[in-house]
Amino acid sequence: MTTAYLNGTFLPLEDACVPVMDRGFLFGDGVYEVIPVYGGKLFRLAQHLQRLQDSLDGVRIGNPLTADAWCRLLEELVSRNPGTEQAVYLQVTRGVAAKRDHAFPADVRPTIFAMSNPLTAQRNSAGEQGIHAITLPDIRWEHCNIKAITLLPNVMLRQQAIEAGTAEAILVKDGYATEGAASNLFIVRNGVLVTPPKGPALLPGITRDLIIELAAANAIPYRESGISAAALHCAEEIWLTSSTREISPVVRLDDALVGNGMPGPAWEHMMSLFQAYKEAIRNGRAA
Ligand code: PDD
Repeated sequence: MTTAYLNGTFLPLEDACVPVMDRGFLFGDGVYEVIPVYGGKLFRLAQHLQRLQDSLDGVRIGNPLTADAWCRLLEELVSRNPGTEQAVYLQVTRGVAAKRDHAFPADVRPTIFAMSNPLTAQRNSAGEQGIHAITLPDIRWEHCNIKAITLLPNVMLRQQAIEAGTAEAILVKDGYATEGAASNLFIVRNGVLVTPPKGPALLPGITRDLIIELAAANAIPYRESGISAAALHCAEEIWLTSSTREISPVVRLDDALVGNGMPGPAWEHMMSLFQAYKEAIRNGRAA
């Protein structure tokens, strides 16, 4: 049984209900986070809570909880759900209003919802075949750094990718690749790891930041700079990263192989660093 949290109460997920007048239901007026749990420990919780705060600030919803209260809530949620490898989902909406009106309602209390699901293990490098991806125009809004629950463009793009027989869409805006429909983008070019810089065009991924940290700590050359669609198409390696996907090597982009069509050596190296970092979290040697 999956245990969820709704506005102060832990309850079975299937019993968690919100009123239809919730702004999240009517307008997609809210923000969210997805936090992986390794060995029962919430991964980079402080960073996720900071990004939550930034998203709330971005849409002008007051944070209903302190960082300590979030921490206690989420730790209890994890302990009430089975297994030590989980993916916690949390969302905060502007709340339930008396009438449907685009303008912010006065005196509304944010709705807090959280749930946790088993996090399915990623295949290790030995079994990894890589994924296929397509490029699509980035049809989203100008505030992609906000982790808004309003995900209709992302949903349409991911579905288009799947219907093309691929796993993810890589989005192109003004000639530059921004990120995936639900993941950040890295390429390897001339042996250098490249990822687009943070800004309103993409979500500042927590996995992305860890990869940059691991690159810096292990003398792997990297650069934060724009990736033109042309550079993307001649990259030696392409990776897509997220809390639930970890680091997925893209082995086919549109109609062409990436490199030799197999996960590359830079991915292999980073993946082993990433797995070692996860293991350190499980053993309480990293946060
Ligand atoms: N999505 N970019 C977008 C648009 C995303 O939706 C995500 C994650 C990321 C990667 O961020 P992080 O490394 O912090 O997970 C980048 C989550 C997993 C989701 O929507 O389910």
